[in-house]
Parts: sequence; C-alpha cells; structure tokens
Amino acid sequence: MPYTINQVKELVREFPDFPSEGILFRDIFPIFREPEAVECLVGHFVEQVRGLGSPIDAVVGLDARGFLFGPLIALRLGVAFVPVRKGGKLPGGVVQAKYQKEYGVDVFEMQADGIQAGQNVVIVDDLLATGGSCRAAEELVGMLGGTVVLNAFVISLEGLEGRKQLKAPVYALIEC
Ligand code: PRP
Ligand code: ADE
Repeated sequence: MPYTINQVKELVREFPDFPSEGILFRDIFPIFREPEAVECLVGHFVEQVRGLGSPIDAVVGLDARGFLFGPLIALRLGVAFVPVRKGGKLPGGVVQAKYQKEYGVDVFEMQADGIQAGQNVVIVDDLLATGGSCRAAEELVGMLGGTVVLNAFVISLEGLEGRKQLKAPVYALIEC
C-alpha cells in the first residue's frame, strides 16, 4: 500500500534518555523497514528541492543518517551525492570543520574535489538539533566555493533553535 507523508511521519519513534539521560532520541529507522514509506519520503524531499526552482548540482548527506536517504534523493534528481563524514574516514585531500553537537564535540570532513566552485547543493540529514553539524557542513561547502540552497531534515527540534545557526533556508518534515 502506498504511504502518505503523514503515515511516514507516524513511523518515527521516541526513546527517552538515549544515548544519555535527558535526551529524547528520535528514531527514523522504522521508515526504512517499509519500502513504500521510503518511496514516499524520497518523493517528498525531491518535490521540496524541485520547488526551489534553482538548478541543483549535488546532494550533500551528513554522516551517518543522512546517508540513508541522501543518495536516493540524488539519484531521483539525477545529481551527484557527496558525503560529509566524521574526521579521519575520507581518503585524499579534505576540508575540515569542527563543531559542537547536542551531546559532544566532533569534526566533519568533505573531499576537496567533492564540490566544484559555483555549484548549488542541498544538505540532507535526519535531524536538526543545535545546528552544529549542519552549520559545519555549510562551512565545508562554502570552503569549496559551493552554495547551499536548502538544508533538508526529516525532523527539526525547534526548541534547540538550530535553524538560527544556519545560513541557508531550512525545510523539516516534522517540526517538534
Ligand atoms: C545526529 C543527527 C545529526 C546531528 C544533529 O548525528 O543525525 O547529524 O546529530 O545534531 P546537531 O544539530 O546538534 O548538530 P550524530 O552526530 O549523533 O551521529 P550519527 O548520525 O553518527 O549517529
Ligand atoms: N541527534 C541529536 N539529537 C538527537 C535526538 N534527540 N534524536 C535523534 N538524533 C539526534
């Protein structure tokens, strides 16, 4: 049975006190157990990107849960998928940015030849919390001369005001 986007939203689960006390963890993995839900989710994001009306050259997915659906969106749009990975995982020349997360500090890297100067990209990830991860990814794209035209998430935790950290517009399927 085809899923509606509201049925996809209902698949997201909450786990209190994971991975540490006080964090209400939003789990998107149940979506990926249902191929029709994935189809609906990917189609929904593709519509958001097409609705921008700007040509897109790449989808940039954030380590690790942005890798679940970023490549599917890129494939559907017929553009490149470029990963942003945690530090030390990518071979060759990289650009690097440190960032603060909801629960810790981390480093993100992107391959220096991942984006060409002048390209337009969409950043995708499962969740926007404090905005530290996505802001670091925006910086990496900027270091390579690219432009972020949209930051797209399944979930935005509005109370943490992550979108205030970001330069590019934000789309979130679920705002909570
Ligand atoms: C989570 C989530 C986002 C980020 C959001 O990833 O998937 O990438 O945190 O938090 P922020 O807006 O405060 O930066 P995490 O770093 O836990 O890594 P994982 O995807 O490898 O679990
Ligand atoms: N990453 C950062 N905060 C998170 C949360 N509350 N749920 C899932 N992933 C997260």
